[in-house]
Amino acid sequence: MKRFFLATIILVGIYSCGNQDGEPSSATVKSESTDNNSYDPNRGEGKFKTVDVSDKLNITMADKGLKIFSVKCSSCHKTTAEKLVGPGWTGVTKRYTAPWIMNFITNTDAMITKDPKAQAQLEICLVRMPNQNLSDDDARNLYEYMRKNDGVK
Ligand code: HEC
Repeated sequence: MKRFFLATIILVGIYSCGNQDGEPSSATVKSESTDNNSYDPNRGEGKFKTVDVSDKLNITMADKGLKIFSVKCSSCHKTTAEKLVGPGWTGVTKRYTAPWIMNFITNTDAMITKDPKAQAQLEICLVRMPNQNLSDDDARNLYEYMRKNDGVK
């Protein structure tokens, strides 16, 4: 019986450490820390934090994107679901957020090193996508072209 009481007191003691006086729990503190290992898998890593995307397709941008695709991407990517050297682009805008895609294509090397989904693709494709030296506008236009490819009108 004595032991039981002792155990109860210890348990209550441990349990009550976390949340007294509105102090943040250790979990909250962790997510707020700015340590270098924190990586956001929704946004990826790079300069794009949010991307302004309207419901309707911007045809001018999508056409510019198509031109860049033909020169810089089509040797490795198909616009269908079929894999060439890299994954096919069907549904790519549904698999990833706009910032993720734009960060990936402008900061490719760093993203492949850090991103679990990019690493999974690398395991399937066995080729590391090289950096493409795209401008910010190139990246945005390519994203618009990917939206068009995914059926946005
Ligand atoms: C030399 C071949 C090559 C070229 C050129 C290339 N890619 Fe890739 N790409 C890959 C490979 C391989 C992967 C998957 C493996 C990885 O993550 O490295 C990939 C992955 C991607 C992904 C993630 C797709 C997914 O479904 O996971 C996007 C988006 C992408 N590439 C966009 C582009 C764009 C935009 C261009 C042109 C500016 C381009 N790529 C040019 C080979 C290439």
